[in-house]
Amino acid sequence: VREIVFAIGYRWEGYQRKWRSVWPELRRALEDAGGRSLAPFLEGIHEDATLRRALRVRLAVTVSRLFRGRRSFETLMRLLDATLPAQGEARVWSAGCASGEEACTLAMFWGESIRPLRPDLRLRIIGTDVRGECLDRARRALYPPGAARNVPPSLLERYFDSTPGGLRFRMPENVAATFVHSDLLEDPPPQECTIALCRSLAFTYFGPDGQRTACRALARAVVPGGFLVIGDRETLPAQEGFEPIPEDRTIFRRAGEKPAPEWPARP
Ligand SMILES: C[S@@+](CC[C@H](N)C(=O)[O-])C[C@H]1O[C@@H](n2cnc3c(N)ncnc32)[C@H](O)[C@@H]1O
Repeated sequence: VREIVFAIGYRWEGYQRKWRSVWPELRRALEDAGGRSLAPFLEGIHEDATLRRALRVRLAVTVSRLFRGRRSFETLMRLLDATLPAQGEARVWSAGCASGEEACTLAMFWGESIRPLRPDLRLRIIGTDVRGECLDRARRALYPPGAARNVPPSLLERYFDSTPGGLRFRMPENVAATFVHSDLLEDPPPQECTIALCRSLAFTYFGPDGQRTACRALARAVVPGGFLVIGDRETLPAQEGFEPIPEDRTIFRRAGEKPAPEWPARP
């Protein structure tokens, strides 16, 4: 079982509960694949990207929250304020966007701190995930009230409509979000992004090879001088392309002189 989990790029270091839930999912995957025994199934995973993708969908952890990692967003807004142009478009990649909570959080911070100063600058958020039902929820932007418990009341009022189905998020003016299916370990990343958010995904749940692939994709996505944000409890493995910044250990600057790494990744 461990070998199968490693073969799809995951690791879950220190997540015993997750390991316990794997076997039932794997058994279902084996049945779907015609009841093959584990050895040929493992071989198939090494050779067949479709199988790897399908397993990641089954095994992904999808927990997210609105306003998660508030400190990172506050620092990020200060950095953006010091570097963004007055007009044009800034692109953001939310890698592993879950149901859009991270996109909404960024949109609120943008609406409060960047938009008033730069009314002619547009923000485009590109959220990617492997789970179709998460992407559908992100497109609906409808959240149960409990999901918004960390959102300050003034922002709750400004950005959410209370509907019978839950709280519906309203994007600020000049901010647009699109949510697309994409596997961080297999698919080419979006390009020309000023920011990439990769939190509670690669640097928590991926093994070393998966983390290297993710880093390459992130460095490819972010323009020189742009920013990568990781989770509060995560560490970026030492690698070329991003430099730490003194203000915040969750934010890294894309080094200017390093060319974008190749995609697809070559070992
Ligand atoms: C724990 S959630 C984190 C969500 C959000 N980034 C946050 O910090 O709140 C991880 C998300 O990554 C997605 N995911 C897992 N493996 C992935 C992969 N290989 N490529 C893209 N998304 C993936 C999961 O479906 C899930 O929605």
